[in-house]
Amino acid sequence: MENTIVLEAKSIFKSFYDPVQKEVLKDISFDIHRGEFVSVMGRSGCGKSSLLYILSTMDTDYTGELYIDQELVTNQSDQALASLRNEKIGFVFQFHYLLHEFSVLKNVMLPGFKLNRLSQAELEHNAFELLKKLGIEHLASKMAYQISGGEKQRVAIARAMINDPLLLMCDEPTGNLDNKNKEIVFDIFNELVQSFNKTLLVVTHDQSFADNTQRTIRMEDGRICN
Ligand SMILES: Nc1ncnc2c1ncn2[C@@H]1O[C@H](COP(=O)(O)OP(=O)(O)OP(=O)(O)O)[C@@H](O)[C@H]1O
Ligand SMILES: [Mg+2]
Repeated sequence: MENTIVLEAKSIFKSFYDPVQKEVLKDISFDIHRGEFVSVMGRSGCGKSSLLYILSTMDTDYTGELYIDQELVTNQSDQALASLRNEKIGFVFQFHYLLHEFSVLKNVMLPGFKLNRLSQAELEHNAFELLKKLGIEHLASKMAYQISGGEKQRVAIARAMINDPLLLMCDEPTGNLDNKNKEIVFDIFNELVQSFNKTLLVVTHDQSFADNTQRTIRMEDGRICN
């Protein structure tokens, strides 16, 4: 059980073609075991976000193979991918994308409505508990456009956790946070790994954050270099 591989990338290549062809990911292969806390580091533009979009199944335009939870997801239908994502993957984007016309609490609950496993009352309860954990329960009834960037970032983290995913992928989740809130987020991630055997893949520019994860994948110009 401990040694189960939950994510495996096999020789992934990706190019963008606009305005000219540019290969942004080159022969990316690695795996992540259940219960690992892994960081990804590398210069701006080296391909970290592009990689995360592929690993989270949101970008299907690549070559190579991707396995999630031992299942080949490459070439699965959009519908199959959407349901796999909703059930197994929590994602925090570099730019958080909350729905501004909804309350903070509703934003956190939304992936839960989609999964449709819990009642509205249960979801509301869980969403509120997550906000509490992140120290922002006082924002529950505010509209998403009424809160700060760092607060939005924490709401996005709560939203990514609402369906209790196997794998949590985050693109710069602490980029807008002060040290105290960085620590809060790190501790929550660590607890997910230590106490709940979750698996985390986090892109960060923060060396001290990366130093505290179990393993760091270093990228340079579209390749893994460690
Ligand atoms: N939609 C796109 N079309 C064309 N080129 C793109 C597109 N998105 C990203 N790129 C290019 O691909 C490369 C990798 O971008 P990516 O966003 O993955 O970098 P990153 O490592 O996440 O950088 P940062 O640390 O600044 O977030 C960059 O050179 C970028 O300009
Ligand atoms: Mg990026």
